[in-house]
Amino acid sequence: MSCQRSTLSLLRIVLLVFISMVIVLIEISSKWLPHRNFKHDHPTYKKMVFTKPNETSLNWSNDPFTCLSQSISTNIAPTSNVFSTAEVINAKASHKVNDTLQIRITARDVNNVIKTCGGDYFRVKLYTAETQSSWSIDVTNDLGNGSYIADVTLRWPGKVAVIVTLVHPSEALRVLRRIRDLEPGRTVFKGRYLRTLDSGMDISEDVMCLPKVIRNHSLCNFTDERLGYPWFCVAPSKNTLSCDDWKLYVNDPKLGEKYTMRAVSKEELNIFKIHKLPIKHHPPPLNVVGDSNRWKKSVFAYQDSLPSCRPGQHLHNPSPSGFYSNNIWFSDQCKLRRFTKTDVLQCLQNRAVHIFGDSTARQFFWEFADNYKPNIVAGKIPIDLRKGLVRPLYAKGAKFNISIDFKFHGFPNRPSDFISKETITYIVNELDGLKVDSRSVILICVGTHYTTYPLEMYEKRMRDIKEAAQRLHKRSPQTLVVFKSSNTREYNNRLHQLHNSEWYIVTLDLALREVLKDSPELAFIDAWDMTIAQNSKDSVHPRQAVLSNLINNFLSYICPDAPSPL
Ligand SMILES: *[C@@H]1O[C@H](CO)[C@@H](O)[C@H](O)[C@H]1NC(C)=O
Ligand SMILES: *[C@@H]1O[C@H](CO)[C@@H](O)[C@H](O)[C@H]1NC(C)=O
Ligand SMILES: *[C@@H]1O[C@H](CO)[C@@H](O)[C@H](O)[C@H]1NC(C)=O
Ligand SMILES: *[C@@H]1O[C@H](CO)[C@@H](O)[C@H](O)[C@H]1NC(C)=O
Ligand SMILES: *[C@@H]1O[C@H](CO)[C@@H](O)[C@H](O)[C@H]1NC(C)=O
Ligand SMILES: *[C@@H]1O[C@H](CO)[C@@H](O)[C@H](O)[C@H]1NC(C)=O
Ligand SMILES: *[C@@H]1O[C@H](CO)[C@@H](O)[C@H](O)[C@H]1NC(C)=O
Repeated sequence: MSCQRSTLSLLRIVLLVFISMVIVLIEISSKWLPHRNFKHDHPTYKKMVFTKPNETSLNWSNDPFTCLSQSISTNIAPTSNVFSTAEVINAKASHKVNDTLQIRITARDVNNVIKTCGGDYFRVKLYTAETQSSWSIDVTNDLGNGSYIADVTLRWPGKVAVIVTLVHPSEALRVLRRIRDLEPGRTVFKGRYLRTLDSGMDISEDVMCLPKVIRNHSLCNFTDERLGYPWFCVAPSKNTLSCDDWKLYVNDPKLGEKYTMRAVSKEELNIFKIHKLPIKHHPPPLNVVGDSNRWKKSVFAYQDSLPSCRPGQHLHNPSPSGFYSNNIWFSDQCKLRRFTKTDVLQCLQNRAVHIFGDSTARQFFWEFADNYKPNIVAGKIPIDLRKGLVRPLYAKGAKFNISIDFKFHGFPNRPSDFISKETITYIVNELDGLKVDSRSVILICVGTHYTTYPLEMYEKRMRDIKEAAQRLHKRSPQTLVVFKSSNTREYNNRLHQLHNSEWYIVTLDLALREVLKDSPELAFIDAWDMTIAQNSKDSVHPRQAVLSNLINNFLSYICPDAPSPL
């Protein structure tokens, strides 16, 4: 009897120990993710799994978008800027300002064979060098049979060149579409586990990190609990390291290049030689009559007749939303003010400006932090660290009670040097924790780091940010929240195109506009239209002439009306 009882209690203890072990194991496994096909050999960082593009997707004969007339599969014959033609349908000997013309583009391939299907990405620009005037649109009226129509409006007098650019042949878009979501990814990140042992020795291990589950590996799960944004790193293989030791991460362009290049055939890569090239057979310059001095007066009068800049005006944004004359952006949306340095300080007086987003948003920070010393002074940062790092920045102006800060957006930003993972915060979490009042201003620009992911990911992030802005408006209805779209950029090589093509950027731009279209409480800076029309070279960080217009647009939302003279 007593023996039985002691056996029973022993059993109970064993059971208890077992149960608590199971609980501990479950807790561990919620961080570590042993998949069903859990592999005990941890492949080293350099030997990550890669899914090759399948034969079917590389075989162009199977593509519903391929033109039937093309001699497919042996030779891809992409649309050519040399043989395609553009003409003005309703050309006259002379035109007037505000006339609308139709331009017809006829696509031909590199063998000078007329194309019978659409899908090419063309852009039309009107340009007068003498006055640095320009106007531009992406061509969206694709007739589907190799013909395209663009409606253009003449906005200034003079000799106006018609520049039609083939941004990408449809064949390139086919490739870009296919590789949008690759395994494991076109941008991949290197995470570093780091731990100092009691002996004082450092141990570390580098692994891959991605904003999605990395297949066939045991993982550490760093998904944001609040937002559910996925972030995983391959678990460390050294048993002295654990998930908690993940400290640093960096973009790994070399590995990203490897995965991207393997997904594209040599022949497909050749298509990307034809990129942002002007069509050779373009219409002759248009003669737009009119007295330029009288026109100048009328255009300023027109600007002054527009409503001052307020949130919600993007809901009825004309397309394109303006044009340049003498590199000054004339918006058709609202009355842009032209701020002097004194105006800027006056406008920012007693304000806190919170800037969130990518390095183009950071340009706004530096514009204020660099050019208004000593009235605005930035916290110390070595010059050489300004570009690569994504750390938070702040600047203050005691005299005018100005504060400006900048925070880079969360994963998947692309730091070029190892940064501490603590630096990374999601904008939604930032906005939800932000103390704001009617004098606070918020600027958000996120886009260009999403070109290597499915569009849905970007759409979701932007919807979440919008909803966080709406929650913020519940706390402080008067706080100005401004979104800025992404801009055009330069391309150093074909890989750059495969990662960051403007076609990808346009899809993000359209998605952002869609997300914001029911939000009259938000303001919008149309950086896309302002950079496709710009008269300087495309640059991922728009140059000063364009930046100053973007800043004027931002300030015009903060201070729409000039203070009345005393
Ligand atoms: C190959 O790729 C195509 C297009 O991406 C896809 O529809 C198809 O399911 C893939 N086939 C295999 C066997 O994976
Ligand atoms: C490509 O697909 C076509 C049609 O499905 C087929 O006839 C052809 O053999 C394939 N080519 C290659 C190289 O697999
Ligand atoms: C293309 O389609 C449009 C509209 O259907 C038609 O007017 C035009 O003639 C067609 N162009 C060619 C080259 O077939
Ligand atoms: C990865 O796992 C999948 C099943 O989820 C399996 O089909 C595939 O063969 C594995 N790949 C490698 C390289 O182990
Ligand atoms: C990762 O963690 C998040 C948040 O804790 C959880 O919702 C998600 O299911 C986890 N993912 C996996 C694949 O276990
Ligand atoms: C062009 O149209 C604008 C807006 O309707 C108007 O203000 C302007 O005076 C017009 N310019 C000329 C030269 O007709
Ligand atoms: C200083 O600026 C903040 C906004 O950053 C504002 O809330 C505060 O009222 C200002 N102080 C004064 C004295 O106006």
